[in-house]
Amino acid sequence: MSVEQAPVQRADFDQVMVPNYSPAAFIPVRGEGSRVWDQSGRELVDFAGGIAVNALGHAHPALVKALTEQANTLWHVSNVFTNEPALRLARKLVEATFAERAFFCNSGAEANEAAFKLARRVGYDRFGPDKHEIIATVNSFHGRTLFTVSVGGQPKYSDGFGPKITGISHVPYNDLEALKAQISDRTCAVVIEPIQGESGVVPADQAYLEGARKLCDEHDALLIFDEVQTGVGRTGSLYAYQHYGVVPDILTSAKSLGGGFPIGAMLTTTTLASHLAVGTHGTTYGGNPLGCAVACAVLDVVNTPRTLAGIKARHERFKARLERIGQQYGVFSQVRGLGLLIGCVLADAWKGKARDVLDAAEKEGVMVLQAGPDVVRFAPSLVIEDADIDEGLDRFERAVARLTQA
Ligand SMILES: Cc1ncc(COP(=O)(O)O)c(C=O)c1O
Repeated sequence: MSVEQAPVQRADFDQVMVPNYSPAAFIPVRGEGSRVWDQSGRELVDFAGGIAVNALGHAHPALVKALTEQANTLWHVSNVFTNEPALRLARKLVEATFAERAFFCNSGAEANEAAFKLARRVGYDRFGPDKHEIIATVNSFHGRTLFTVSVGGQPKYSDGFGPKITGISHVPYNDLEALKAQISDRTCAVVIEPIQGESGVVPADQAYLEGARKLCDEHDALLIFDEVQTGVGRTGSLYAYQHYGVVPDILTSAKSLGGGFPIGAMLTTTTLASHLAVGTHGTTYGGNPLGCAVACAVLDVVNTPRTLAGIKARHERFKARLERIGQQYGVFSQVRGLGLLIGCVLADAWKGKARDVLDAAEKEGVMVLQAGPDVVRFAPSLVIEDADIDEGLDRFERAVARLTQA
């Protein structure tokens, strides 16, 4: 029996939703691969990927199959019981990474919350209450809970909510000397995004991550890599730490892990995991069968030499064309990033206008992202077809041409 659905419009958002977002004027209603259709039937090429989430595009057959099979089998049992998809997913992650243990949750912020709590707990258990300081980087982003905005290096997200979590300091990104000056025996953890995603797609320098690893070891501090945005193939390696060859103590993953189904994971070693004993941390939905079944299917598709090599090839295709567009219209000073996390840095004359580029792109039928006011970001499906890349970039070029000729 089909239930009649009441018609809704974008205007309803302003009447019934908390106004903490400012969504686009159109409402996407259907997606297939790297194409999305809105309420009016207009088709768009999707280079936004739900902010680096839809790793296999929309309605990928393997994910639809995993989700519907699981939906017909078992949805939820809570963590009073374990479940088969969660155990399968943990095995896959442990086999594919440095990690020996997994904790599942529902988002990137929750994965980081677990990571920060674990780091503080380890410091407390091993060295006492003074070892609780966390060093993060300026302009970092780790989520929107109070702990994660306190660790994130952006006051615009953390100010105005009363007292923050204390014991957190911020040092400039990619600045090893600054980290060296700040780290001490009170430091329980250093947290780094291998590529700063939200604030401009800024890749870490090799020497920076290597140096951070060394400093952490010297000060008995844990190295946390926030791979919420860079994880699950996004950079062309399963995780960015594998690209750099620098192994963290704790890694957080979300976004692409579920390919659009909410799931997060904190990965770590057996020794560190032992500090989160029964009752110390938890979540009702974390590791639910639906999310874990989908994530297993995502990993099965992404973690193959063919898919990972394909991501690197797609990077080259994007980069070459974006550099050409940048030069021809004088809009970009640099195209940077790894794999399919690409940032186009706006040239001086276009600084602060990333939103205008997004709006112009949408009008031409292509969805892109910004990463701060000065960077246009691309985070498409990891298996996007070449034809979709070319068509989307044709549209993007038309948008840039229109904007620069206006
Ligand atoms: C690096 C990083 N960490 C954490 C988060 C927060 O993830 P979520 O929005 O799923 O809580 C994000 C989201 O953009 C992110 O990019």
